[in-house]
Amino acid sequence: MFITRIGQLLTMEGAALGLRSNVSLRVENGRVAEIIDGEVSRHGDAIDAGGQLVTPGLVDPHTHLIFAGSRADEFDRRARGQSYNEIAAAGGGILSTVRATRAASDEELIASTLARLDRFLRNGVVAVEAKSGYALSIEGELRLLRLLKRVAQQHVVKISPTLLAHVPPPDLPRQVFVDRFIAEAIPQAAQEKLAEAVDVYCDVGAFTLDETERILNAAKSLGLRLRVHAEQFTYTGAAELAAKLGAASVEHVEELSADGPALLARSQTGCNLLPGAALTLGLKWPNARALLDAGCLVALGTDCNPGSSLTESLPLMMSLACMQMKMSCEEAWRAATVNAARALGHDLGRVAVGASANLVIWRANDYREVIQHYGDSLVEAVIVDGQKMQF
Ligand code: NIG
Ligand code: FE
Repeated sequence: MFITRIGQLLTMEGAALGLRSNVSLRVENGRVAEIIDGEVSRHGDAIDAGGQLVTPGLVDPHTHLIFAGSRADEFDRRARGQSYNEIAAAGGGILSTVRATRAASDEELIASTLARLDRFLRNGVVAVEAKSGYALSIEGELRLLRLLKRVAQQHVVKISPTLLAHVPPPDLPRQVFVDRFIAEAIPQAAQEKLAEAVDVYCDVGAFTLDETERILNAAKSLGLRLRVHAEQFTYTGAAELAAKLGAASVEHVEELSADGPALLARSQTGCNLLPGAALTLGLKWPNARALLDAGCLVALGTDCNPGSSLTESLPLMMSLACMQMKMSCEEAWRAATVNAARALGHDLGRVAVGASANLVIWRANDYREVIQHYGDSLVEAVIVDGQKMQF
């Protein structure tokens, strides 16, 4: 199969996004077999890109993909002036989603999660990280991971599952929850291969730095990747801890310390920035410039979740990164492709001979147009492992 008349191709290989003009691709067995200069004349089995932009499929390194219920009422209350933390302290927020998720049937959770993946695909996203975290019991978190596995079998978007210690549960002493998370949830998730990573939300109202360290050490000893929701609302030292433990990524980092960027740059820890949460909650924007200038590996995610960032639009996150976080279009493309893939430990997010053919054809001629144009999807077609998706 060929994809011909590609006006602009981002390969993400080498400098300047590995940009190629006027090329075609030959795809065999789900992989890119050849990058050909010019058009191919045999049009029989070819997708015509019409001179438009083709890029790697986008990769979202941070989502809370599986949950039930709606928090539209809280959204409106926040719009009228109540704060996210006030609502959470009154039993709303994450705990309201926990009640809805516990009450939902397996079928409801699977259906709503599949619908979210459909929306991700329509936004050009071919792979997402997906966290548990809205059950807050050991069995409940494992249930969410098992459901994610079933979802993954029913959808083309690839899922990298993460076991998340989100907040202490309302119905168990926090010490007991942390002990059981370490002694039961993490080993069971590892044994059943339900999760590739463990994430801890370390903040006021969530887990302490000590609890975070205990949980992460347990995950590390079982060979799981580590992630930390770090420095979102308050500075806790979680990003430094993540770097020390060799975490795969830190998330959010709006309140990172002044020496945070240099420290993270020296480590292998990537920084997953989540502009949707800053936009929704009116937080300050993560200091992408400091991280990039220090040499950190910066990725962008939607943080897709029912409270602080209800979106599947990774292109919108790229727009916010350029409009509000002083990232260049080139940095935003890297952040939503290769760098995100690296944070997940897989090989997506680039176009190369031998690499899997996960591609997006955009209704655009220039990679910067995709970022400048916000509020609607410019995706014309998505190709997953060499197959053109219908939607
Ligand atoms: O990444 N910070 C913690 N957790 C989520 C929000 C979850 C929610 O509000 O339901 C986040 O922003
Ligand atoms: Fe999150």
